[in-house]
Amino acid sequence: MTRRIPYLLALAFSFAMAVPVAAALEPERERALGNLLVHDCGSCHGTRLRGGLGPPLTPDRMRHLPRDWIVDAILDGRRGTAMPPWRALLTPEDAAWLARSLQSGVVE
Ligand code: HEC
Repeated sequence: MTRRIPYLLALAFSFAMAVPVAAALEPERERALGNLLVHDCGSCHGTRLRGGLGPPLTPDRMRHLPRDWIVDAILDGRRGTAMPPWRALLTPEDAAWLARSLQSGVVE
């Protein structure tokens, strides 16, 4: 029985880590993020997110990238490139929603 404790702790920890990312956003916030995606992100990545100054953010490309990697790229930007950090404007939950949307292709 006691041998199971580390396993249970690991399980509890991974749930604790997963919950904030899986948390649902208010519909109003989702609409605001959808607008941000088209207008702000779209100003560099193209209004259809098919690429511009920044690379295309289309689901065929985004699907192959780890979700956490995309979240980090959004929150911290890509150092030494035009991709700015969004941490001042977006929460990790917002970034996770954007990453999920990009991977499932809401804009297409
Ligand atoms: C000022 C221009 C600009 C804006 C605004 C911008 N990006 Fe970027 N983004 C870039 C550039 C340039 C890159 C390529 C960075 C590199 O070469 O690694 C990039 C890279 C990325 C990547 C990594 C994709 C890849 O294949 O390397 C993601 C994801 C991303 N941006 C998402 C976003 C999101 C979401 C927004 C809006 C919240 C946004 N970007 C706004 C310029 C921008």
